[in-house]
Formats: sequence, C-alpha cells, structure tokens
Amino acid sequence: MPVARRIEEIRLELNALAQAASTAQELMQTMAKLLHERMLKYNWVGFYMLEPGAQPPMLVLGAFEGAMTPHTRIPLNQGICGAAASSGQTVVVDDVNSDPRYLACSLETKSEIVVPVFVRGKVVGELDIDSHFAAAFTPEHQDLVQHCAMLIGKKLEASGQ
Ligand code: SME
Repeated sequence: MPVARRIEEIRLELNALAQAASTAQELMQTMAKLLHERMLKYNWVGFYMLEPGAQPPMLVLGAFEGAMTPHTRIPLNQGICGAAASSGQTVVVDDVNSDPRYLACSLETKSEIVVPVFVRGKVVGELDIDSHFAAAFTPEHQDLVQHCAMLIGKKLEASGQ
C-alpha cells in the first residue's frame, strides 16, 4: 500500500480513537499503542508532559509504548525533547548520532521526531517517537504526528485542562 494511503487510514483510526476516548490520558495510551503497533518504523512512542508548577520546568514521561527509557524526567535545556518543548516547534532529527542535543534512549535508535502539544496556545507536553531507521520521519509522517499532537491538545482543552 502506498505510504500516503496507509497514513490516511491510520489518521482515520486515530480520529475514531479521539472520539471514543473519555479522557486525554486514555487517548494518549490508545494512541501510543496504535502508532507503535501499526507504524512499523515507530519503534518507541511516548508522551512527555510538563510537570504542573515545576520550577525549573520539567518534562515527565507519561503514556508510552516500547522499551523503558532511562529518561523519565527531562529539563527544558536538555535533549531533543527539551528543544521541542522550549521552542514550541516540531523537531525532526534524521540521524540522532550527529545531533549533540540527543539523549540516548536505545542504541538502536537512528531518527526521532518530537512534536509539542498545545493547550490554548501554550505548550503542555509533547509526543516523542523514535525509529530504528534513519530519516524515518518524512513530511508525510510529520503531518501525521502533528495531527496526533493536535488531537491530544483538543482533548485536554475539552476536559478543561
Ligand atoms: N531522545 C530524547 C530522550 C527521550 S528518549 O528518546 C525516549 C531526547 O533526546 O530528548
């Protein structure tokens, strides 16, 4: 199946998950599971959320699928994760070993995408995906992962967070 069609199928399934989920936490869990199981190059999928009221700000590991990571708490000045949350921008790294910001989670990881999650225009967390394949996150994948982050932000907003 062409990649664009497969991504469109997954997008529709994600929209259905978002409709069905009663909480943002539930949606983060079901979304991480679906992406990890169905997207063959998404080898670690997880959310980091900003700890409410923490000073300095801290990203804390939330729902995830894949091997346990040593990085359960990440300050905003560290890692690809810190870079995405502090800039409010999607960060795509095609070769993690050539990026000095990279915090290693698994030796097999070759590329990574981190997309911020916004609630009413403010970053509240992010969706982080690692791949065992170099340059896995082409523009079509970036659109899909940004769609996922948008669904979580809307769910958080709908629950009054
Ligand atoms: N690689 C991330 C750390 C999180 S693990 O990939 C799960 C980073 O550089 O911030």
